[in-house]
Amino acid sequence: MAISRILLITLAALFVGACSQPPTPYAWQIPEGFPTPNVPVSNPMTEESVALGRALFFEPALSGNGAVSCSTCHMPAHAFSEPRTHSHGSTGDKVRRNAMALVNVGYNGTLTWAHNGFTTIEQQLMVPLFGEHPVEMGITGNEEAILARFKTDDYRQLFAAAYGDEAATFDRVVKALASFVRSLTSFNSPFDDYAYRQQDDAMSESALRGMELFFSERLECFHCHGGFNFTQSSKHAFQQLDLQPFHNTGLYNLDGEGAYPQEDTGLVEITLNAADMGKFRAPTLRNIELSAPYMHDGSLPSLDAVIAFYAAGGRGEGINSPLKSPFVSGFTLTAEEHQDLKQFLLSLTDEEFVQKRENNAPTLPPKVAL
Ligand code: HEC
Ligand code: HEC
Repeated sequence: MAISRILLITLAALFVGACSQPPTPYAWQIPEGFPTPNVPVSNPMTEESVALGRALFFEPALSGNGAVSCSTCHMPAHAFSEPRTHSHGSTGDKVRRNAMALVNVGYNGTLTWAHNGFTTIEQQLMVPLFGEHPVEMGITGNEEAILARFKTDDYRQLFAAAYGDEAATFDRVVKALASFVRSLTSFNSPFDDYAYRQQDDAMSESALRGMELFFSERLECFHCHGGFNFTQSSKHAFQQLDLQPFHNTGLYNLDGEGAYPQEDTGLVEITLNAADMGKFRAPTLRNIELSAPYMHDGSLPSLDAVIAFYAAGGRGEGINSPLKSPFVSGFTLTAEEHQDLKQFLLSLTDEEFVQKRENNAPTLPPKVAL
């Protein structure tokens, strides 16, 4: 009797002790001199919230019918994008856009291909989690059943370590997923070795010539894909300006007035301003080699096609679109210059990022039974 009581008290003390351990502030893996991404005060980055978010990211039990996880559309080997033109949600619904690569997302001033109102990852995640048109994860209507799946020992420990107690709630699920997405930072490409770590031989001669072209007024790429993340749409400790740039690159012009296919007209859907027809966010070009096919609808299959597209100043009638950005005016490249530009884009691949154990599924706890 006495022994079991002592045992109980000890166990209780251990339990309370384990739960009251404060979470560990997250150790960013960012080179010296670079800013950390903005983090909402309501969702501080901790090692424990990132660990829970990682488990949830690869967890099919988070979808209503257990058919998909975030990683079905955001695959680590493809820089967390997918090798398809567009996605399908858990119930088979077509998702009209190409899944975005998740690379340094924490720096993005706005989220998704064309939305000026999503300014935090937490906000944006409501769409894949709860959206019904189309259904992606298919949580709406299955909330209770899904949360009940997260009562396994592994998840109870993960939730307790991250948030102080074992309760699985969607508020915590969203916060943890957003923390994991913020942790996906990539700064180990040959370009980074060359530009920021002063390794003069990190890039080939061809890639260096391509870099000159990329940053030239002749090609204009850097106007829209500028800064260390190769997109203007950045917000972080050094840049709090509220830049929200979206551009029409002349992919379509269905009516001579710049119309895009009705299925996806870009920013105009949100702003209802006719001038925003066909405007999309210029995405980061980091790890671009891995995230084919390209553009919001995956309609350009390869980097060669993308380079030919910009050289032509758009595609088909899109070239004559009155809504096309003046920076997409076309240029002529020799075959060698085309290769050089491509080599530069290839120098933005960070092998460590896609292979890193922490970014991949094998470190996960066992999957939850449905
Ligand atoms: C069915 C496929 C699919 C699933 C499942 C999915 N996504 Fe996505 N994701 C997309 C597509 C497509 C986009 C682009 C959406 C748009 O532009 O409207 C996107 C965009 C994003 C973005 C914006 C990135 C940026 O740079 O703006 C984030 C972050 C994201 N997804 C995270 C997640 C997380 C976390 C999950 C799991 C809860 C998830 N996604 C599930 C297809 C998917
Ligand atoms: C006017 C701004 C602008 C200029 C100039 C520009 N881009 Fe883009 N870029 C964009 C936008 C916007 C998108 C997305 C368009 C869409 O999906 O409709 C994009 C998409 C891309 C993509 C595909 C990204 C993905 O994840 O699918 C690549 C690669 C790319 N650009 C490379 C370049 C190169 C190389 C140059 C120079 C030759 C260049 N861009 C010039 C704005 C620009």
